[in-house]
Amino acid sequence: MAQSHEPRIDLRSDTVTKPTEAMRRAMAEAEVGDDVQEGDPTVRALEARVAEMLGKAAAIFVPSGTMANLLAIKTQTSPGDEIVAHEQAHIFHWETGGYAAVAGCSIRLVPGDSGEFTPLTLRRAIRFEDQHCPPTRLVSIENTHNKGGGHVWPLDAIDDIGSTAKELDLRFHIDGARLWNAGVASGEPLSRIVQPANTVSVCFSKGLGAPVGSALVGDRTTIGLARRWRKLLGGSMRQAGVLAAAALHALDHHIDRLAEDHEHARMLAEVVRESPGMVLDPQAVQTNIVFARMLPDESLETQMRAADAFAQSLESRGTGVLSEGDGRVRAVFHLGVSRDQVMDACAAWRACAQDLAASLLDATR
Ligand SMILES: Cc1ncc(COP(=O)(O)O)c(C=O)c1O
Repeated sequence: MAQSHEPRIDLRSDTVTKPTEAMRRAMAEAEVGDDVQEGDPTVRALEARVAEMLGKAAAIFVPSGTMANLLAIKTQTSPGDEIVAHEQAHIFHWETGGYAAVAGCSIRLVPGDSGEFTPLTLRRAIRFEDQHCPPTRLVSIENTHNKGGGHVWPLDAIDDIGSTAKELDLRFHIDGARLWNAGVASGEPLSRIVQPANTVSVCFSKGLGAPVGSALVGDRTTIGLARRWRKLLGGSMRQAGVLAAAALHALDHHIDRLAEDHEHARMLAEVVRESPGMVLDPQAVQTNIVFARMLPDESLETQMRAADAFAQSLESRGTGVLSEGDGRVRAVFHLGVSRDQVMDACAAWRACAQDLAASLLDATR
């Protein structure tokens, strides 16, 4: 039998959640049809619900966040166009270069704290009208921002990017894989947060706990085009109502509880603050993601080694986290982690931090 490598307390990502009993029942009871022919009634219900929640005309259910983002890019650009995104954007780092491989676009990466950038930064990234330059066509932001530590973009910052995009005749996409967390943390309606955007992707398979699925929302023409491209890419699914039922169940039962995940993240953040040899990076924890930078005064190479060693040491104490490859360790909270497990993970973290401090002391003797 295959060995399971899942840690007892799994904080590596919020993608590791498993469907609850109630969700599995909803999946089993789903009404289904052929979604590529006349339509699957549960998928249609999910699409209508998400479009309404986000205040857009239409939505399309897709297998993954990667496909939702790719469809947003493919439907709003032409080959040879350029996209502007943050230098830590998921679409750039972790989506296999689909913007280039499928959409034929280049991407201009811009800096900014915690995954956020300003209208001025956007303006400076725009190519001027010249035969030597690819035309800038699309700006994409990520809310919450994964590598920015689950950072929530403030409303006025999103509005400012939106009005700048409009003025510069750019399309505006929001990668909202964790938009639900941004909504709970800010208290703002989702439709208000994404109001200036042309398209938004959302995921049901992260903190919401569904096993599969994401959606792209936008105007009818863009989503109609996305339906063709989803088919071309092999992402059209037949009796997908069993999956949509899980997503609908998550929308009904798993949004408000994200506040618990945020509280759990703040509990660990306190432990990180008190731990020798590390700092929170970024310093504010707003949602369900905690990043700790190891040995901030040392070289990046030493930080990276320390992060690997710290993650391994936590793993040996039953708590899984990710060493990000940039000197930081990431812990993500989700519905698969109980309050007791958070306490255990905090205790394990404290113990490993003491070990790290002791080994540093040894090294200086
Ligand atoms: C911000 C962000 N966008 C998009 C994705 C891609 O989602 P998927 O893994 O469903 O393709 C992820 C996945 O973790 C993510 O964190």
